[in-house]
Amino acid sequence: MAEVRLDAVSKHFGTGEAAVTAIAEMSLTIGDGELVILLGPTGAGKTTTLRLIAGLEKPDAGRVSIGGRDVTGVNPAERDVAFVFQQYSLYPHLSVYDNLAFPLRSPARRVPEAEIRRKVGEVARLLRIEDKLNNRATHLSGGQMQRVAIGRALVRRPAIYLMDEPLSSLDAKLRSDLRLELKRIQQELGATILYVTHDQIEAMTMGSRIGVIDRGRLVQVGTPREIYENPVDLHVAQRLGQPGINLVPRALLPEVPAPPGAHTIGARTEHVRIARAGHADGVGLVRWIERLGDQNHLHVTLRGQDLVTLGEPDSDLSVGDRVGVEFLRPLYFDAAGRRIAAGA
Ligand SMILES: Nc1ncnc2c1ncn2[C@@H]1O[C@H](COP(=O)(O)OP(=O)(O)OP(=O)(O)O)[C@@H](O)[C@H]1O
Ligand SMILES: [Mg+2]
Repeated sequence: MAEVRLDAVSKHFGTGEAAVTAIAEMSLTIGDGELVILLGPTGAGKTTTLRLIAGLEKPDAGRVSIGGRDVTGVNPAERDVAFVFQQYSLYPHLSVYDNLAFPLRSPARRVPEAEIRRKVGEVARLLRIEDKLNNRATHLSGGQMQRVAIGRALVRRPAIYLMDEPLSSLDAKLRSDLRLELKRIQQELGATILYVTHDQIEAMTMGSRIGVIDRGRLVQVGTPREIYENPVDLHVAQRLGQPGINLVPRALLPEVPAPPGAHTIGARTEHVRIARAGHADGVGLVRWIERLGDQNHLHVTLRGQDLVTLGEPDSDLSVGDRVGVEFLRPLYFDAAGRRIAAGA
């Protein structure tokens, strides 16, 4: 596998009034053997980024290189990438075995049949579909079909796997199973993968690094933990965390020390606490208790502002109780939404 680099790549669609900047000066390196996630909302430019790497789109500016070679002007067929699309497209009349073998049977590759059998067997084992090899592709569940679609990419050893929301059509349980399996397979193969998604849980659990993309711009790149704990702006802070980060106008919380220029105070659910006596930054009212089994989410209104905090499952708080609220490790943002360091 190989390192893949984007250097100041830009891509526009359309002209004049209708022109759209799909990608703006994006620079990103996906290290050899690394799984990088691009996280962003619909229309952010995720698919366009993958298509630029695959050579299905040509950049207006910038360079794409794979394994140290500049491929900006190179045809898709000569780029050595494997693409897994959002909508799986299997050959319905073929068996699972033949679907998996298909990429190896192209006349250009001339892989011997024994080698094909070995590779298909290995991928079927990795994806846990060995018992389905003789099924027609259409006689599978959605989750099994998607495994076959991923398997069709995995039978090859390209420079990079490009995966475009491959789990988004699956139900929640299957998604969580498959994202763990994909991560395991990636580590087992040492595969280089650029995986795009709008699902923050996929990004947090799978990526060695996450790139947060918004309107064609890469806003921040870092480990899941860096992105979660040290977001560069409000946009990034709001993209991660379930429930989302609590945001309170600084003016509502004069008791909380904050650096000059702080306009908004952010505190994640786990950093808003029901205060011990004498530690409250404000007093709120319990509006609603969401019982999730292993924990509770307490919805508290503080000076007209709704907050969500983590509560103990065995707490004896009830709706209507008045509680002191304490902010631990708050994040500060200026009026433009940029992060301000706590000591600034
Ligand atoms: N072929 C095209 N012609 C014109 N505009 C396009 C084309 N492809 C993409 N765009 C525009 O470029 C922007 C980025 O699109 P892209 O498909 O990369 O987004 P995305 O992040 O993959 O979104 P989604 O999550 O919905 O798949 C969007 O504004 C889109 O409308
Ligand atoms: Mg897309």
